[in-house]
Amino acid sequence: MSKRVAILISGGGSNMVALIEAMANDRFNAKPVLVLANSANAGGIAKAQINGIATEVVDHRPFKGDRAAFEKILHNTIAKYQPDVICLAGFMRVLTSDFIDRWQGKMLNIHPSLLPKYTGLHTHQRAIDAGDTKAGCSVHVVTAKLDDGPLLGQTEVPVLAHDTAETLAERVLVEEHKLYPAALQSFVKNDG
Ligand code: GRF
Repeated sequence: MSKRVAILISGGGSNMVALIEAMANDRFNAKPVLVLANSANAGGIAKAQINGIATEVVDHRPFKGDRAAFEKILHNTIAKYQPDVICLAGFMRVLTSDFIDRWQGKMLNIHPSLLPKYTGLHTHQRAIDAGDTKAGCSVHVVTAKLDDGPLLGQTEVPVLAHDTAETLAERVLVEEHKLYPAALQSFVKNDG
């Protein structure tokens, strides 16, 4: 049976679009039921609407200092759509273990590094500064520890001599758009 997928974004949502386009194929065992952003300014919201996907915005800013209250509304908003899987796709809020526990084993994330290297931010600059010859991206199941949890897939991208964080990020992003749909497809297949 087709799995119901909610996608959480904070920005332009290019990974979200890649997921939606992949799920448009009948052979994909999942369909997008919600795109949710934590800011009304997230460019991805308009892109989701163009694709005919339901959208919600749960702005974190009114909840400053009260993460539990933000996550309660976040959880309730997502739950209305009864997703089987949540894909974090450039969702730039750190989630607490309370929230994560409620979606345990059902939430995936894409991270622009070869995990376990470079959890957190500025991954491309850190890879360049370290003199790494390869960078890349990872999709993993979300657990309480940031950018941790069982890996579903990784793609390597060579670091070139003249790379800046921007040029490397661009090439990694191209691979993210292939890796995330592939990882989601195998996740929903293996999940029954
Ligand atoms: C991606 O590199 C994602 O891995 C990272 O933020 C970027 C989001 O890009 N965490 P987009 O919003 O999917 O275009």
